[in-house]
Amino acid sequence: MFIVFDGVDGAGKSTQLDMFVQWLRDQGHDVVTCKDPGSTELGEQIRKILLDKHDVPISMRAEMMLFTTARTQLIEQVVRPALEKRQIVVLDRYIFSTVVYQGYAGNLDPGELWTINLLATGSLLPDITFILDIPIDVAMERLGNTLDRVESRGKEYFERVRQGFLAESERWPTGVEVIDATRTPDAIQLDIRETALACMQRNSSL
Ligand code: TYD
Repeated sequence: MFIVFDGVDGAGKSTQLDMFVQWLRDQGHDVVTCKDPGSTELGEQIRKILLDKHDVPISMRAEMMLFTTARTQLIEQVVRPALEKRQIVVLDRYIFSTVVYQGYAGNLDPGELWTINLLATGSLLPDITFILDIPIDVAMERLGNTLDRVESRGKEYFERVRQGFLAESERWPTGVEVIDATRTPDAIQLDIRETALACMQRNSSL
């Protein structure tokens, strides 16, 4: 089973992912967690280039290719082997992020980014993607002042990111759940667990 958490920065994604993984482990599930970009040696190096603040010019298309390259390594080195061992993989961000941050918000063609990313991952798609959704004013307030390279792009960019996530999730009739992340952490988590449980039951009855 392959589960992804995604959404605009500041929506509480990491908190919800941690609560969810703890809940799965408490029930005795064998869970692997990873972060995109990251969780491989190559991925961590690419992550630094992409997210640390520096003066090296990186075009939007080059940025997209770097995120995608880190993802290829992650899928081949970590995700596929774990799924083959029947572990549950919970991944922090995935293809949606590239389609939205570099596509919808970065003015690259979302359709082309899907094509490249399906090629890059051997078309490995999650069983469920949770998109945590929150108004940008609230998200930016939560982020504070210590922003990484991508987070420093300002409110308009993030409005396009949010709308991109919402538009993209509408294109997927199943497997993508938009979660209202303005509620209390416990209420959000309950929603996530119920959806995951239903999906796990469906999977085990197949
Ligand atoms: P994130 O994964 O949220 O890490 P942290 O919780 O440590 O801030 O941050 C990664 C940043 O990279 C985030 O601003 C979104 C951005 N990003 C892209 O622009 N494109 C991508 O394909 C991915 C995976 C992330």
